[in-house]
Amino acid sequence: MKAIHPKKRLTGSVRFGGDKSISHRYAMLAAIAEGRSEIGNFSSSADCQSTLNCLEKLGVEIVRQRDVVAIEGVGLRGLCAPAGPLDAGNSGSTLRMLSGILAAQPFRSVLTGDASLSRRPMKRVIDPLTRMGAHIQSAPGGMPPLEIEGSALHPIRYELPVASAQVKTAVLVAGLFTEGETTVIEPIPTRDHTEIALEQMGAKISRHQKTMSLQGPARLGGANFQVPGDISSAAFFLVAALLVPESKLTLHNLCLNPTRTGLLDVLMPMGARIRALNQRIMHGELTGDLQVESSQLAGGEIPNEIIPGLIDELPVLSVLGTQTAHGLSFHGAAELRVKESDRLRAVAENLRRMGAEVEEFPDGLRVAGRQKLRGATIETYGDHRIAMAFAVAGLLAEGTTVIEDSDCVGISFPNFFDEMEKISE
Ligand code: S3P
Repeated sequence: MKAIHPKKRLTGSVRFGGDKSISHRYAMLAAIAEGRSEIGNFSSSADCQSTLNCLEKLGVEIVRQRDVVAIEGVGLRGLCAPAGPLDAGNSGSTLRMLSGILAAQPFRSVLTGDASLSRRPMKRVIDPLTRMGAHIQSAPGGMPPLEIEGSALHPIRYELPVASAQVKTAVLVAGLFTEGETTVIEPIPTRDHTEIALEQMGAKISRHQKTMSLQGPARLGGANFQVPGDISSAAFFLVAALLVPESKLTLHNLCLNPTRTGLLDVLMPMGARIRALNQRIMHGELTGDLQVESSQLAGGEIPNEIIPGLIDELPVLSVLGTQTAHGLSFHGAAELRVKESDRLRAVAENLRRMGAEVEEFPDGLRVAGRQKLRGATIETYGDHRIAMAFAVAGLLAEGTTVIEDSDCVGISFPNFFDEMEKISE
């Protein structure tokens, strides 16, 4: 449990651990590359540790030294059959993206996860990988554990039924092992870290708007990477600095890849005082600092096409909506119901606990503006992003806010509360 008290202002600067999405991808691709890779500023999140643990069980040699992870790539054909189940913990990214690699292996493997992950839908990866020739069994309803009988795969052309970067990645990495062209078509563009990393490691991949094609078999070369800071972690500080009066924060060295900055696209036209500084390209990823000052925000409706670009930021953005002039609403986010928790329900319920007015739709929320929040006990459902979104709400609320099961922040951002304390007055 963690008690949060209102703050007068937030000032100073924050440096963030490596982006979780990029860390997962670099680790998995480095494992099947040829030669050694060194990954700096690797995410310290529990989710990315789950990925490293699974790779070790597949026979990959990994040395962790502070935030640098060195991986001896075994090549496309060098993974070993694991002695037991591979535990993805709470991490949907680990389970879904790794299943693309495991589908092509000449051995059987079992992917499991914790109680939350065991309720999340996996049919979305089972379907395309089965079409490529893999044999995958799941628990009823297409849920984990997944038992994957790998085999020689063939390329497919696949239109994603839901906009999901995890599923896109599973199909593309399976395509690495095939003879020919694997194509994925997205309904709405999603984060493209896999495509960028594959290009950096020497794969032939062509991209045209929402269509990605990969030429297999593709041998990857080991590489040295530096992971940019996680914008989805920074989002909590960014929103907090916008809302707590007299605040000014500099958020350093963040991934500003345009497929990840939907939050900025929504907030800037609403009047957010955010400046991007020191922009540069690092291993194909746009990186830079953000300077944020407290702002008066108009609010409004988030367009559906932006949703994948801020999918993980919607809980904290909903909290922000309560402090805007006109409130905030969005649709097209039914995916939030199948994240680490049902995030639409968790946000609506906890905002109500804080005395706010909120309307819940099957695929979105409407939050009224200019609302006073009062301290309450927050039910996190063990979901890191719910815990952090409501810790931000607690900075604005009257009285004390108690975050239950607050340790769950370690899933993506282990030192969240310490960093927040450092910049708070
Ligand atoms: C992720 C993609 C998104 C996101 C998740 C990380 C990724 O999930 O919510 O936190 O790294 O590819 P979906 O692919 O299910 O949309």
